[in-house]
Amino acid sequence: MSNDKKLLYSGMQATGTLTLGNYLGALKNWVTLNEEYECLYGVMDLHSLTVRQVPADFRKNARSLYALYVAAGLDPEKNCIYYQSHVSGHAELSWILSCFTYMGELNRMTQFKDKAAKHADNINAGLYTYPVLMAADILLYQADLVPVGADQKQHLEITRDIAQRFNSIYGDVFTIPEPYIPKAGAKIMSLQEPEKKMSKSDENANATIKLLDDRDTIIRKFKRAVTDSDTVVRYAEEKPGISNLMDIYSCVTGKSNDEIEKEFAGKGYGDFKLAVGEAVADELAPLQKRYEELMADKAYLDAMIKMNDEKAQYLANKTLRKVQKKVGLTERIR
Ligand code: TRP
Repeated sequence: MSNDKKLLYSGMQATGTLTLGNYLGALKNWVTLNEEYECLYGVMDLHSLTVRQVPADFRKNARSLYALYVAAGLDPEKNCIYYQSHVSGHAELSWILSCFTYMGELNRMTQFKDKAAKHADNINAGLYTYPVLMAADILLYQADLVPVGADQKQHLEITRDIAQRFNSIYGDVFTIPEPYIPKAGAKIMSLQEPEKKMSKSDENANATIKLLDDRDTIIRKFKRAVTDSDTVVRYAEEKPGISNLMDIYSCVTGKSNDEIEKEFAGKGYGDFKLAVGEAVADELAPLQKRYEELMADKAYLDAMIKMNDEKAQYLANKTLRKVQKKVGLTERIR
């Protein structure tokens, strides 16, 4: 990667099936970024281990995530899409960085508190040091920009703090990453509780649209979406359900709120919900077709994984060797 484009880094956990929220909020925007930036996207499988996984399902999910990245339009020849666990530098840098992270800082992480409450029977040390591994992901590649949602902002802040602390001791080793705020894209909310973000771990299947849901399922879930007792399709804070559906419709059709309000003036919620369901099903159909093709083409996917693992390893090792040297670890004898 020898050019002077800025480097952008992101990734998703390899657990559960991606939702429409992941797609419209992140993935769909990532597709356009490689013109302007050098992009790396990880299948964050080490992070997934903080929650107990069924090995065979986990392995399948990770490959499925890889294929979904590609099916969504991320060209694996132009974007480095790789498995976090295939680059040992993540775990190695994470250890070193953990010695530069204070427990007081980790104690403040709201996601740890939430997850600890949710998994009270398995509050493991990995859940606690999760942000350090995330810092390692980002700093290992000297990322300039990291597109993250609001729920990950605190993790990006601690990454910057760790990097600055390290640099103040050892000189300019790490690039200090900035959050990347996408020009387009929306925060998609649950279809059942529109005050809550659409989440792939939601137990209510009707609350989320999965990227691999079939057309009938998608339309049915939109029909059941929670709205309000009014009948007018209008964007308003006190109408979170309808506003969320408008955001979704706007993301997939490119229409503005004004246009949508006009289109459905005098029509009921039923017509609107059906239109949103159909538009989303149309949007996802080509992605789903491409996904099936990719999952059936083992040789192609394996070749892309191998090539990108190697690319990522090369970049990661450059930073890792530098860090090891700076902290005074003994260099390897060649
Ligand atoms: N923690 C992120 C999430 O759950 C995933 C992630 C892991 C990530 N490492 C990252 C995102 C590095 C951006 C950069 O969404």
